[in-house]
Amino acid sequence: MALRLGDTVPNFTQASSEGEIKFYDWAGDSWVVLFSHPADFTPVCTTELGTVAKLKPEFEKRNVKVLALSVDDVESHKGWIGDINETQNTTVNYPILADPNRQVSDLYDMIHPNADNTLTVRSVFIIDSQKKLRLTFTYPASTGRNFDEILRVIDSLQLTDNYKVATPADWKEGQDVVVVPSIKDPKELKERFPKGYKELKPYLRMTPQPNK
Ligand code: BEZ
Repeated sequence: MALRLGDTVPNFTQASSEGEIKFYDWAGDSWVVLFSHPADFTPVCTTELGTVAKLKPEFEKRNVKVLALSVDDVESHKGWIGDINETQNTTVNYPILADPNRQVSDLYDMIHPNADNTLTVRSVFIIDSQKKLRLTFTYPASTGRNFDEILRVIDSLQLTDNYKVATPADWKEGQDVVVVPSIKDPKELKERFPKGYKELKPYLRMTPQPNK
């Protein structure tokens, strides 16, 4: 069955471009972005993996490790990394899982046979430090992903884990957030939101980002 939000993600041991990865041990107390791409030596994937390499400091700031995957083998990944570095002007600084036996692809349902019988689609899994799945999305092979959006979602998840807020449409770090509708007690509202809040409707109350 497909993984659902809140599920504990499955563990695995698999080869990668940086040696064998025992997933739970490798993740440790970090969050993880696990993302698949269709194949090595393909144009969109080359741009995606280069973009992630450049964003690695942003992921690290948020205590997030990144881990790529395709059904190609370790030798293929190692050869392709040279091309990514050369063409994207970067250094791939994270592991790419090699999954020719589809062990991880099957565990995480990354092959969608009606799109392609053999290659992984562009799946993304955001996994928190408790190994719980917090977001998943799937893009087709023809469309490269927006990795700034993945960072934005991580910012929202980490903020809303710590405060009784939610983030509105197109929210970005630093902008006003929504007070969760379940808080109604005026004393609690004052304690939790000392900067105050604006009530547009009883269910729609905006407050400055609490940790800024
Ligand atoms: C690409 O990464 O460019 C790609 C991979 C598979 C199918 C189509 C495009």
